[in-house]
Amino acid sequence: MDAIHIRGGVALHGNVLIQGSKNAALPVLAATLLAKETSIIRNCPRIADVYRMINLLDSLGCNVSWEDGGIRVDAGNVCEGEMPAEAITGMRSSLCLLGAMLGRCGEIVMEHPGGCVIGERPIDIHIAALGKMGVEFKEEGGRLYARASGLHGADLTLPFASVGATENILLAAVMAEGDTVVFGAAKEPEVTALCDFLKCCGASIEGAGSDVLTIHGRVPLHGGDFKIPADRIVAGTYLFGCAATGGCVLLEEAPIGQMEAAIHLAGQMGSKCEPVSEGLYIQSPKRAALPALVRTEPYPGFPTDLQSMALAAMTVGEGECVIEETIFENRFRVVPPLRDMGADIEELDTRKVRVKGVERLAGRSVEAMELRGGAALVLAGLAAQGQTLVTGCSYIFRGYENICRDLRELGARITSG
Ligand code: UD1
Repeated sequence: MDAIHIRGGVALHGNVLIQGSKNAALPVLAATLLAKETSIIRNCPRIADVYRMINLLDSLGCNVSWEDGGIRVDAGNVCEGEMPAEAITGMRSSLCLLGAMLGRCGEIVMEHPGGCVIGERPIDIHIAALGKMGVEFKEEGGRLYARASGLHGADLTLPFASVGATENILLAAVMAEGDTVVFGAAKEPEVTALCDFLKCCGASIEGAGSDVLTIHGRVPLHGGDFKIPADRIVAGTYLFGCAATGGCVLLEEAPIGQMEAAIHLAGQMGSKCEPVSEGLYIQSPKRAALPALVRTEPYPGFPTDLQSMALAAMTVGEGECVIEETIFENRFRVVPPLRDMGADIEELDTRKVRVKGVERLAGRSVEAMELRGGAALVLAGLAAQGQTLVTGCSYIFRGYENICRDLRELGARITSG
């Protein structure tokens, strides 16, 4: 089940319904810990990371069940149980349990989620902000001990608009004594979704979607009934799949308002993107035109999570484009396998590549090394002539409910197993 087989060279055609957002579902599920009542979270994608979060909530004493209508979380009896170490270290977003548990219980012990504080993907911004709110941290034997005897509001200025840090601050601040003001907050739609959920539980938050958030703490929270918005990154993946294959697709329920930068780039690449009542309708030319430069940026700029898919679509376009990654180092691991398939990509430095479109890619055996890079290899396989085998697909299944089913609905010849 770890591999995906693709017989490429077929343009995508048809309709597909876009799943709920992974990056919105995870912090919202963590936030259900804050209220002692039951919450229902609808439209959660059935993906590995959501199952992991359910497992973590369960280990903390929540009663969690997946029903037809959504995930029901009864957080009446939260205890500081042992959380399975591998569920924490295997998923960076388990970090949002930090703010949620500090808010609910005033303390938490957890494995360090994905690496050390000063290394790659540090958590210094989380720690500095929560520290100003009265949280004390200690690191021992690879574990993080956090305790707040009197969680209080604070004026915080973030050095970088970190999505995860903004979410952790929100989760702690709604339970803290007094007001918290966050300057330089992340504006990503997933942060707004968390604010919306907290507000539906009774929290008082101003400025959602802007870079200044004001949270009035200690407003009593009740359970919430909330629908997770559609996944803008999954929709963007299929948008660039359409561009890569010269297809014509309708992405049902795509969150068009959150996809401006991706739609703008697809437009520059020659695709006609039209909002219709069912979602987003896209018609792409046989070969995409490459713009001179694409740079990833915090929202509303072009998302880092779509960079690899845009790169994959460009490999078979016309012209050349420089792609600059400004958010994460190490986001070009997909370049060597794309080159194996015949792509012409030059690494200018660790954060910049130049891609020159070639007429066709050739199917190969390639290995996914991370979630979005893996999805990009699937797109390359769709565009390539012949058969492609993508291994290491457990990464892809962390974020896509059923990428093969979705792409088959769009006419692709693709199977997993
Ligand atoms: C979230 C998303 C991820 C997306 C990213 C950027 C989830 C589960 N994941 O990740 O898919 O790619 O936003 O849109 O929602 N940083 C620090 N110190 C910190 C925190 C972050 O230096 O304390 C750096 C990171 O190393 C990275 C950059 O800031 O270079 C962005 O990180 P952040 O916005 O925090 O991303 P995540 O919340 O981890």
